[in-house]
Amino acid sequence: MAQAIEKRVEDLLSQLSLEEKIALVHADSTFSTAGIPRLGIPKRWLCDGPHGVRQDVGPDTWKPSGRTDDFATAMPCGIALAATWNPELAEVEGAAIGEEALARGKHIMLGPAVNIMRTPLCGRNFEYFGEDPFLASRIAVSYIRGEQSQGVASCVKHYAANNQELERMTINVEMDERTLREIYLPAFQAAVQEAGVWTVMGAYNKFRGQFCCHNDYLLNRILKGEWGFQGLVMSDWSGTHDTHEAALCGLDLEMGTNKPGDEFFLAKPLREAVQRGDVAPAVLDDKVRRNLRVMIGTGLLDGRPPGSLNTKEHQAVARRVAEEAMVLLKNDGDTLPLDPSKIKSLAVIGENAMRLHAHGGDSSGIKAFYEIPPLEGILRRAGSQVNITYSIGYGSDADSDATERAVMAAKAADVVVFIGGLNHDRNFDTEGWDRLDMKLPYGQDELIQPIVEVNPRTVVVLIAGSPVEMGTWLDRTPAVLLAWYGGMEAGNALARILFGDVSPSGKLPCTFPKRVADSPAHALHAYPGANGTVRYEEGLLVGYRWFDTKKIEPLFPFGHGLSYTRFEYSNLRLSQSAAEFDVVNAGEREGSEVAQLYVHDMHPRLARPEKELKGFRKVFLKPGEKQRVSIPLGRESFAFYDPDRRGWVTEPGVFTILVGGSSRDIRLHGTLTLR
Ligand code: BGC
Repeated sequence: MAQAIEKRVEDLLSQLSLEEKIALVHADSTFSTAGIPRLGIPKRWLCDGPHGVRQDVGPDTWKPSGRTDDFATAMPCGIALAATWNPELAEVEGAAIGEEALARGKHIMLGPAVNIMRTPLCGRNFEYFGEDPFLASRIAVSYIRGEQSQGVASCVKHYAANNQELERMTINVEMDERTLREIYLPAFQAAVQEAGVWTVMGAYNKFRGQFCCHNDYLLNRILKGEWGFQGLVMSDWSGTHDTHEAALCGLDLEMGTNKPGDEFFLAKPLREAVQRGDVAPAVLDDKVRRNLRVMIGTGLLDGRPPGSLNTKEHQAVARRVAEEAMVLLKNDGDTLPLDPSKIKSLAVIGENAMRLHAHGGDSSGIKAFYEIPPLEGILRRAGSQVNITYSIGYGSDADSDATERAVMAAKAADVVVFIGGLNHDRNFDTEGWDRLDMKLPYGQDELIQPIVEVNPRTVVVLIAGSPVEMGTWLDRTPAVLLAWYGGMEAGNALARILFGDVSPSGKLPCTFPKRVADSPAHALHAYPGANGTVRYEEGLLVGYRWFDTKKIEPLFPFGHGLSYTRFEYSNLRLSQSAAEFDVVNAGEREGSEVAQLYVHDMHPRLARPEKELKGFRKVFLKPGEKQRVSIPLGRESFAFYDPDRRGWVTEPGVFTILVGGSSRDIRLHGTLTLR
């Protein structure tokens, strides 16, 4: 198979003129590259993004083309997918998006986005898979396998160290080698080596002084050299800055440059450089080979299956991901689930009960075929049994007595469901801007307090893609549910969770700090950088690695998430190749538990974080049901990157294996000696 592809690549390459080769390494419109009709090579189409197939834009603009056939299934946001801790489901989602990409005629899908959450304030945290490299890798690998199983290329992005939106086009990132290898590269490496991803997108920022889209170290040495990547590297849109560097430092496809087509860095300037002898023809040939490989792999030259768009099956996937993603942060006195036969009136309060989100956030937004907002989901599920009122309470358009009306509505109702959080407006969860702080906007803190005062049966639902502060009201609020941005089925999924049709089973893929100053980059004043450079002073201590090592109490720890049932853990047995233990559903409802395994090195030669996630398994259990869970361990579960030896090493030693329901809810532990 691979040999047959290589043969076709060489055949085609030998027939291409210099002009034609050049045409294959840069864009001819916002999201396409030129075809070469003479050789039967059609135009190739790229499209965002991680959450579904984005709407089409005009050839030379970002403006929507206004088509009627580009509505698509809108999946929950990336961090929600990570919160499912369910790689099988990520694969199903990837496949569904792949089918829609086929139906929409797209060859390369610009996702998944796997940058690590370094700061709670990064505007694109909602697209990414959280703060842990192991979890992000597992989700990314499965998503890519699913998508590429359809003959659609995934594009893992943004390689690498694109961890803030502030100054994203120019900021230079500096970090030590071990941090790069252990925290910021693993998800990319797994995408390449385990999932066989076909394309990689360079990041906008610089890394060690050189732009990531033509970064010799990241692209030539690591990606193509060490990892043996055979696919193509494309630039982020307008991420290319120089012809010579782009030619020699690893870029294979230039996209989105803000110039007429022929003036792209890899267009006429590259052609002239080759003609002058400044760039060797073999350098261009290598780029063309990489492009041809992906073209053949995605069936561009052979015709493709029709795919399918907006099917019931895809909508069901969107709903399942949304459901499995929701994290029950707090549930005192079993406030949730709500029993519609036992409550007469329900006050739904908050702008996010009605607000649509799927289209927002910039490049990852989707022109959703439909979107069920929370209020609609609640009305559909319980509207015939319960008297449901709505009051906006807060919001970008709320008037001055919105608070008063909301508090009155809260007082009059049996139960309140407050639906707030963030949205995709500037400086919240959106591309291009970071958040300014971790607070809830529009005075929500001030609104939740009187609501809870007049009605203690208040459930707070947060719609957000990154951590928020809750300090002023959390103590007095019995139940808090984190729903993320749930895609087109958000409202239905939320209603199913609220009314107990399904138990919540999401777990946090990131730490929720009490205040932004507690999180590492902020505590060390290492964000957003100064004079154009940001130094990752916290090194390896990102997310829970920092909070655990420094013994700082978070608001909610990494891996946390409650259920409507209870799980008990017992009988841990450790071997060199696996940790085995029993999980039993000791409650009265069915539900899923994400059992997590962390490794603690008792006597590390080089300092290590207090603990590191090295395995997890999501298990579904009926009441009373017990399952023996096995989590594989390998040499890599104990390895660290040794900068002196320039490689991962596993050394003999004694390790504690910690198993539990979150990074701070360890139920079982044992020691393992590695010889
Ligand atoms: C984003 C990418 C996206 C590209 C194309 C860029 O601004 O950073 O993630 O794929 O635009 O829309």
